[in-house]
Formats: sequence, structure tokens, C-alpha cells
Amino acid sequence: MVTAMTTSSTSADRVAVITGAAGGIGLGLARACVADGMRVAIADLDAARAGETAKALRAEGANAEAWACDVRHPAEVDRLRDLVLEKFDRVDLVCLNAGLGLVKPVAECTEVDWRLLFDVNVNGVINGIRSFLPTLIAQGSGHLSATASLSGLVADPGLAIYNGTKFAVVGIMESLGMELRRDHQGISVSVLCPGPVATDIVANSNKSLADEGTAMTGGEDVADYLARGLSPDTVGRLAIDGIKAGDFWLLPHPELTVSLLEERVAALRLRRLYAPDQDWPLQGGQGQP
Ligand SMILES: NC(=O)c1ccc[n+]([C@@H]2O[C@H](COP(=O)([O-])OP(=O)(O)OC[C@H]3O[C@@H](n4cnc5c(N)ncnc54)[C@H](O)[C@@H]3O)[C@@H](O)[C@H]2O)c1
Repeated sequence: MVTAMTTSSTSADRVAVITGAAGGIGLGLARACVADGMRVAIADLDAARAGETAKALRAEGANAEAWACDVRHPAEVDRLRDLVLEKFDRVDLVCLNAGLGLVKPVAECTEVDWRLLFDVNVNGVINGIRSFLPTLIAQGSGHLSATASLSGLVADPGLAIYNGTKFAVVGIMESLGMELRRDHQGISVSVLCPGPVATDIVANSNKSLADEGTAMTGGEDVADYLARGLSPDTVGRLAIDGIKAGDFWLLPHPELTVSLLEERVAALRLRRLYAPDQDWPLQGGQGQP
């Protein structure tokens, strides 16, 4: 399989576009791309933070530019693609990473909660695919990666909306990968499914939720728990290395992921609800791969 990383372009002229890259996992992905000599487009809803991030990367010697982009809006993602092509002439790697978290019992979830999470986490990925895939197909090369989550493979109580969005992303990327392997072998895809990663996702998501007049419950416990997770730089490096190796599944917590999926398959065989003993099956210092 030919991936973005094995095309004829040299490492110095390859270009990565990363959404939700002002911080967290998106910045970890950007740092790994920069370390590999790629030029990077930092896109984020938060234009000020994205600008500061690109400036900091440039100070470290990177060729980085920032663009404001709200992935919920197809026209903004099309505009991002056009601006990146205008500036950099090509796109080799697209990481559809922007996302929000929400911890809340289903019975308390509002219409706004459902709409906002699906708009950012699912429509954001769909908009990215719709905008960038034709460009990659026209080039005959490139790689599309979406950041789902371990929550796209196994469910947890309190995460129904988040689980729904991330299961959708996994399904979309798996189907897309099968199609491309059949119809466009120069283009490859992957899906990143991390367990806990130490980012500011709770605070950033609470800000977006507050802007829409809603809020999560239990966010503080989750923030404490994520703080014990992998570093975003580690996740970014593992993901980019996996893409270079031609992997579809980018699994920063491989043993945890496989053991939880085995429990899920066992539950399928028994036709029972998969319900781990503890509320948070990822607890217990399992943030390390
Ligand atoms: N932190 C974790 O433990 C973890 C685990 C698995 C998956 N993830 C996923 O990783 C991705 C990155 O999350 P993170 O943990 O780095 O959190 P983060 O909050 O640091 O990064 C998410 C970024 O997305 C941006 N964003 C939010 N809404 C947007 C929009 N509408 N348009 C464009 N940008 C938008 C935010 O401003 C933020 O910079 C998300 O998709 C998240 O669901 C996170």
C-alpha cells in the first residue's frame, strides 16, 4: 500500500493539515510531522490559540501556518483546503482531529448536547473527508486520518453521546478505507483510537458547551483521570509512526484496547450487555501503552 509517507515527494515538501491542532493531540500530531520534516497547517476553532501554536512551532524552525476553521461548517473546511493549497501547493496528510468531549447521563442530555457533539465530532470528520478526498484522489496520493477514540470501540456509562460520535467515526473510516483500497490504491486512511491522553479536552469542551448554553456533569473527575494518561506528544509520535508503517488502526493503548474488545466479543457470544465491573474501565493507571 502506498501511503502519504511513501510518495515520491521529499519529506521537506510534504504537507500535513491537522484540525483541532491548537493544542492537545492535534499539536502532538503536528510536532511529529514537523520532526519528520513536513510543513504543517494548524487549523482550529480557536484562531488565537492556533496562531500562537504555529508561531511557537516556527520559532522551533518549523514551516507552520495557522488558519481558523470551524469544522462544523462545510464552507469553512473547503476554504481551509483552498488556503492550504494556495500556500503549500499540495496536501499529503489530513488529520481530522478536532473534537469535543461530553460526560453526562443520557437522561440529562439536551437536544443541544446531542447536536453539538455530532456536529463537531461526526460532521467535522465528514466535512474534512468531503473537502480533502477529491484533492488526494486528483493527486493520486495522500493519507486521511481521523481521531476517534477507544470510546469508538467500547462504550462507557455517561458517554453515550461521545460513544455514538466516535463509533460513527470508526465506521466511516473503516468503510472508506475498504473503498480506497479497492478503488484508489494511492490513498490510504487510518483511525486513531487513544485511551486516556493528558489534554485540556474537558476545559476546552466545557467552553464550547457553555457557548451553546449547556454543560457537562462529572467533568472534573474525568479531567483528573485524563491527567494520568499518555502525553499528547507520545500519542502524536505513535500515530504518525503507525501511518508511516501503513497501519489502519492507530492504537496508542494496544493491550487495553484489545482486552476490552475481547470482553465485548465475549458479551456478544453470550448475547449479554457488555458492562465492565467498574464505571470507568480505563481506570487503574492504564494510561501507559
Ligand atoms: N484526551 C483524550 O483522552 C482523548 C482520548 C481519545 C480521543 N480523543 C480525541 O482526540 C481529539 C483531540 O482532543 P484533545 O484531547 O487533544 O482535546 P483538545 O481540547 O486539546 O483538542 C481539541 C481541539 O479541537 C478544537 N475544536 C473544538 N471544536 C472545534 C470546531 N468546531 N472546529 C475546529 N476545531 C475545534 C478545540 O479548540 C481544541 O483545540 C478529539 O477528537 C478527542 O475526542 C481524546
